[in-house]
Amino acid sequence: MLTRMKKAYGLAGLLSLGLIAASHSSQAACTYKITNEWNTGLTGEIVVTNSGSSAVSSWSVSWQYNANRLSGSWNANVSGSNPYSASNLSWNGNLQPGQSATFGFQVDKNGGAAEVPQLSGSICSGSTSSSVPSSVPSSSSVPSSVPSSSSVPSSSSSSPITAQQCNWYGTLYPVCVTTTSGWGWENNRSCIAVSTCSSQPCPYGIVGSGSCGVSSSSSSSVVTPSSSSSSSLVPSSSSSSSVVVPSSSSSSSVVVPSSSSSSSIRSSSSSSSSSVNSSQGPRLDNPFVDARWYIDPVWSAKAQAENGGSRVANYNTAVWMDRIGAIEPPDGSFGLRDHLDAALDQNANLIQVVVYDLPNRDCHALASNGELVQGPEGTARYRNEYIDVIASIFSDPKYSSLRIIAIIEPDSLPNLVTNLSTPACQEAADMTHGYIPNTRYTLNKLSQISNVYSYVDIGHSGWLGWDDNFGKAITLIGDAIKGTTAGVNSIAGFVSNTAGYTPVYEPFLDSLASSAMPGSGGGTQVRQAKFYEWNSYFSEVAFVQAWRTRMIAAGFPSTIGMLIDTSRNGWGGPNRPTAQSTSTNVDTFVDESRVDRRYHRGNWCNQYGGIGERPRVSPAAGIDAYVWVKPPGESDGVGRAGIIDPVDPAKGFDRFCDPTFTTANGTLTGSIPDAPHAGRWHSEAFQILLQNAYPPLQ
Ligand code: BGC
Repeated sequence: MLTRMKKAYGLAGLLSLGLIAASHSSQAACTYKITNEWNTGLTGEIVVTNSGSSAVSSWSVSWQYNANRLSGSWNANVSGSNPYSASNLSWNGNLQPGQSATFGFQVDKNGGAAEVPQLSGSICSGSTSSSVPSSVPSSSSVPSSVPSSSSVPSSSSSSPITAQQCNWYGTLYPVCVTTTSGWGWENNRSCIAVSTCSSQPCPYGIVGSGSCGVSSSSSSSVVTPSSSSSSSLVPSSSSSSSVVVPSSSSSSSVVVPSSSSSSSIRSSSSSSSSSVNSSQGPRLDNPFVDARWYIDPVWSAKAQAENGGSRVANYNTAVWMDRIGAIEPPDGSFGLRDHLDAALDQNANLIQVVVYDLPNRDCHALASNGELVQGPEGTARYRNEYIDVIASIFSDPKYSSLRIIAIIEPDSLPNLVTNLSTPACQEAADMTHGYIPNTRYTLNKLSQISNVYSYVDIGHSGWLGWDDNFGKAITLIGDAIKGTTAGVNSIAGFVSNTAGYTPVYEPFLDSLASSAMPGSGGGTQVRQAKFYEWNSYFSEVAFVQAWRTRMIAAGFPSTIGMLIDTSRNGWGGPNRPTAQSTSTNVDTFVDESRVDRRYHRGNWCNQYGGIGERPRVSPAAGIDAYVWVKPPGESDGVGRAGIIDPVDPAKGFDRFCDPTFTTANGTLTGSIPDAPHAGRWHSEAFQILLQNAYPPLQ
């Protein structure tokens, strides 16, 4: 989120904005500045300026928050876990008089407001040199309101949690408590993040009060699941509907997402794990039948913290392994094993994991570019540090009761079908280091694990629906899979519309997808409207059913099933048409009849869609399930240039995410403005998704 290359303000600018409170006795002024703020976090920078008359060769700065916690930093050596200390790196310690060094950081607000702490340290000389603008420029890169200096917590007023208070707990993770009905956060926003007893700040959650407060009394009310309480944690599920419904138990229950380092939690939850069938049995045709879907507590807490978010917070969303570091995050936040363990703790038996780290990832766009670059090194790292590690975790016998749904590399093979004029995609077509050999490697590894069900991504109808694209895609993707060791048996099926917005149905147009305009005497096809550009697949259900039929004809077994990501393709809200248009102009007819309200079907970034069909099994012939792969509320890509994601610096600014950009199609992108980087929480987008949900949310 921070502009790394370009400082927003030079020293003179800071002074003129009143950003620096003079530090009379020191050689320097130290300024804490928020550069970007979103619902749950912020990025900031500390500018250390040598305001004395002699050079310094090193510096250090210390500070302490009340609720906020650091979740990353750059351009300084940062140590501690509140208080924090930062010292210079080898290259930015020397400061001539008047010179400054800047380092950046990311903060998890931890349920609190953005804080502006006091700064102290060698060069700041204990002065009260941190300060905030008295007025901030009205730019969205600057928070619209920041605490006044009088509300800045002094280091003495903040009360870090002592290790003693946390002893019962060890390493600290979010704790979720319910006291009335069901597990989760239904009635009582009580997901708490206990603060820093360990070396890691607790990465997620909300520091609450009352039952959520961090005190010895609240800690004693928190218990880890036991076999007797675990039943109240189990989402109920019937065979006809696999939507997770919180149980109606009124007993008080607590879910403690476990982590690899929290052995005390693990052992206390082992009874619930062992009650789960220890073996998956034969391979299932449709693994979603009778499934108990995992609820990702990290996403769920974010959804729950949003106004109205509790209506969706208990649905399954996929866990994205979008970089090597996501498997076992070095900052202690939830990794792959933590999710699988939490699934066992919930007595779930189905979890979706997105495998998403191919070299040259997102080759035709910039928003989700990945950490690996095409070539021998990228291939080696993808295989050894990513796929092998994931496969070995999936193979752990303790997870054998879980049906692991692996969503394989969104957008990758479809890009080889249509985007070979883009150099990065051309490279990705390489048969040694490109998408196909690396995807084969992935499928070869995963198909050896009997409880892993791989679904290969196929874009969506508005991408591969044209006859020529469709045919090429069947061949390219089919052959890619046939080239694996297990061939057509290496997959459970295909997934469409991953992170997409194409609706499941166009209720007023689907029946006309291959027909003439009503009243046109047969002369005008509906699909020749600008919006469809002759593509005869208007929506996802028809597209995936046709895809499955073609793949079976191409030699795939009839057990293959389709998934559709419905997390954001609902298109409800006030602008949803309620009847077919009566216009005789084909464009007007289509525009007035379609529920997909995008300016163009190629618009993919942060659209004004709505929550779609809730996850459920077997919604239509040949379709294993509607699933939520893209967690609602997470951005598709950053909305403006010059912002770096410190955790994922390869992610770029794609103009398809800029609402002011007119694409080559001649239409605006229609993106929601000011979105953060892909994958980060975007409160405004989440609220829009709730408002535009279809079917509407109760
Ligand atoms: C991003 C991933 C993220 C995923 C889910 C993708 O667009 O590139 O980093 O995990 O969306 O939000």
